[in-house]
Amino acid sequence: MNYTLVTGASKGIGKAFAHECAERGMNLILVARSQHLLEELAKELSNKNVQVHIHSADLLDHSVHKKIFNWIKENGWNVNMLINNAGIGFHGNFNEKPLEKHLEVMHLNMDSVVRMAHEFLNHSDKNQRRYLLNTASTGAFQPVPTMAVYCASKSFVLSFSKAIRFELKKQNVYVTALCPGGTDTEFFAPAGMEKVVKKNAAFMMKAEIVAKAGLDGLLKNRNTVTPGLINKLGKLSATFSPDSLVVPMASRFFDV
Ligand SMILES: NC(=O)c1ccc[n+]([C@@H]2O[C@H](COP(=O)([O-])OP(=O)(O)OC[C@H]3O[C@@H](n4cnc5c(N)ncnc54)[C@H](OP(=O)(O)O)[C@@H]3O)[C@@H](O)[C@H]2O)c1
Repeated sequence: MNYTLVTGASKGIGKAFAHECAERGMNLILVARSQHLLEELAKELSNKNVQVHIHSADLLDHSVHKKIFNWIKENGWNVNMLINNAGIGFHGNFNEKPLEKHLEVMHLNMDSVVRMAHEFLNHSDKNQRRYLLNTASTGAFQPVPTMAVYCASKSFVLSFSKAIRFELKKQNVYVTALCPGGTDTEFFAPAGMEKVVKKNAAFMMKAEIVAKAGLDGLLKNRNTVTPGLINKLGKLSATFSPDSLVVPMASRFFDV
């Protein structure tokens, strides 16, 4: 039986992905740390006609990705779609924040994404079409002062996705990088970004709209999906303007 595995499924965009997939009749494996939230979500989805399994795991643990896919194999499930979505960030000048925080962002947003993708590609049925969505960010399009490591990690996700998309084309694997802009989720409080959110509240999108756009784009084999007109315009301006304009402009959004 085919499954879609969603990481970071307990909240925000990942939870919205779970709902969107269930609406479309896709069986789910949901991964995040918060067991109780995953259980609640599985209950919410129980009236949909789909199989839902949950796995509580800390994706910062380097050994956990292999364990998840071994558990999947032992149960005889096939993951034909991976939504590699779990991610964290935080706000502040680089040198004023503890190194450990920066490394955590790098481990979750990059190492874990690579580990999950690798396990997925090597453990799923190669005879059928497979789908891989990596959640990047509009932060991937330009350097952002006060979010330096986070945005660099998302540039990594974007570049990585585009490169393996090309490599995997002949193997019938669709790869899409989802690049949301500000989205109304629980991302910001632990990131110390309440004031940033307040300042940019008018630009926030709903997680449900972002997830739907991401899934539609993945099923259509889009290279990248940037939901929302403002975010698309931001991407254009970041692509075609010099750093001397783009970096100060990006800084203004996050300056509080
Ligand atoms: N919100 C935005 O404005 C925005 C914009 C662009 C991109 N994004 C990206 O979108 C993705 C989803 O973010 P979101 O906005 O939905 O944030 P969120 O509401 O904070 O959700 C983050 C998810 O990641 C999980 N997670 C965090 N640390 C984890 C860990 N160590 N191990 C396993 N799971 C972990 C969380 O679950 P647990 O706490 O239960 O583990 C949660 O399910 C992230 O990659 C983020 O960078 C967000």
